[in-house]
Amino acid sequence: MKTCQTNTLIVGSGLSALAAAHQLNSRQHVILITKCEERDSNSYMAQGGIAATAPEGDDWLAHFEDTLKAGHNYNSPESTSFMIRQSRPIIDWLLSIGAPFDRDDSGGIHLTREGGHRVSRILHAGGDATGAYLINHMLSLLDSLEIHTNTQAMDLLVDGGRCFGLWARDEHNDIVIYLANQVIIATGGCGQVYAPTTNNPSVTGDGLAMAYRAGAALVDMEFVQFHPTLLSKDGQAFGLVSEAVRGEGAKLVNQKGKHIMSGVHELEDLAPRDIVARTLYQAKMSGDDIYLDITKVNGFENRFPTITKLCQQADIDLSKGLIPVSPGAHFLMGGIKTDLYGRTNIKGLYACGEAACTGVHGANRLASHSLLEGITFALNVAEAIRRESAVQNQEPPRMIENKVDIDCPEKAAIQQFMFENAGIIRHQEGLETLIHWFEDHLPQGLDTMVGQPSKAAMERINLLTVGWLIATSALQRTESRGSHFRSDYPEKNDKEWLEQKIVKERRAVE
Ligand code: SIN
Repeated sequence: MKTCQTNTLIVGSGLSALAAAHQLNSRQHVILITKCEERDSNSYMAQGGIAATAPEGDDWLAHFEDTLKAGHNYNSPESTSFMIRQSRPIIDWLLSIGAPFDRDDSGGIHLTREGGHRVSRILHAGGDATGAYLINHMLSLLDSLEIHTNTQAMDLLVDGGRCFGLWARDEHNDIVIYLANQVIIATGGCGQVYAPTTNNPSVTGDGLAMAYRAGAALVDMEFVQFHPTLLSKDGQAFGLVSEAVRGEGAKLVNQKGKHIMSGVHELEDLAPRDIVARTLYQAKMSGDDIYLDITKVNGFENRFPTITKLCQQADIDLSKGLIPVSPGAHFLMGGIKTDLYGRTNIKGLYACGEAACTGVHGANRLASHSLLEGITFALNVAEAIRRESAVQNQEPPRMIENKVDIDCPEKAAIQQFMFENAGIIRHQEGLETLIHWFEDHLPQGLDTMVGQPSKAAMERINLLTVGWLIATSALQRTESRGSHFRSDYPEKNDKEWLEQKIVKERRAVE
């Protein structure tokens, strides 16, 4: 059994992980571990961009209002106003470290629009490869960072209410104990609990499930965002078609050419994502085929090279101007409950990015706010850690390898059952069936891990755990709000639910 000691351990390799590493690495020893390779993250796949209050024709209040409107007023006003006010300074910071944003003909930063934004305020890079450009750039600045790839975090080590590290499995499936003063969970969300999904195959809710097992509080797990437009052909999803395509003029139409968003919302195709996804899903359920009509988008192939490549892979003839689409799981608004500095209810344990819930997204995230959130709060986490006083070194726990064989359902079965019963439209009966199924299959319940599962088994345990957290939260919330739509409770119920948070906490941390 190997032991590694460091000041700060970062789990994950998306933008928030790298932003935190950037701020800490020159001041103290940092190790970053990631389950696959460095670029296997949702951040790397982000197409649309990063939103920031525009320098002209916009102000922070308008941006704040758009965020609350998309989030159905369920957002935390404190964290939301913090993030929106920080959006310009975050862009200045990114520019100061050389972030390669796309420019317009006069050399200014090109801004685009996406769903729920009343003005163009989204910066992008590489056309539709914003995440890849930002991650590549950050990695180029982090040459000296110690990164352990193919290393899967398995469970946190907590003693006396303080997290002092975690145990992981390395590329050989051997146990490694990491001891750290602080652990930052930046593992992203859990899109892989559903199919279809836009998420990277590695995004299986590991950080969320691990935090839950350790006693961290999770909140808002019922709010899962479905992206309306995944390129889908013959029942197969090929990947995301960015909302920026609609921002540049594309329209959603059915097989007869009928514009499906007309009369649904004042912003039509650029309505908030929950509304577009639900409209599209309902149209598909009633037998329609849905397409993005891109005939009005100028220079599609230059502006959207990633999506063009995706269309080629799916054998879509772009000269016809129609891309077949359907919705898929995209983003978790809930997550590990944190304050503005990424602190959880366990000392020494921090979370940022999609794994965390600061309340900035409310019940439905506004487009291009995931990279903004990831960087804003990662910088805060780094600041909080820099201020934390050193803690005493802990002894590594004695672990004797006892690999257990766990009989979990296959990932595909979990994904299908989740999409059917805790997907875009939910109801009591389906949720209860799902919860019973989870409870029958969760090895030893959620509480006690007897022995040490393999990497593959742990991934499935994590999927079951986050699925169960989503389904039980969705059953509890007897209203419809944003991304959480109940056919048996189709209305918003502000009186009972506006202020009501569903918090999942396995046990009190002493
Ligand atoms: C997209 O490009 O449509 C996705 C952007 C986001 O998730 O905000």
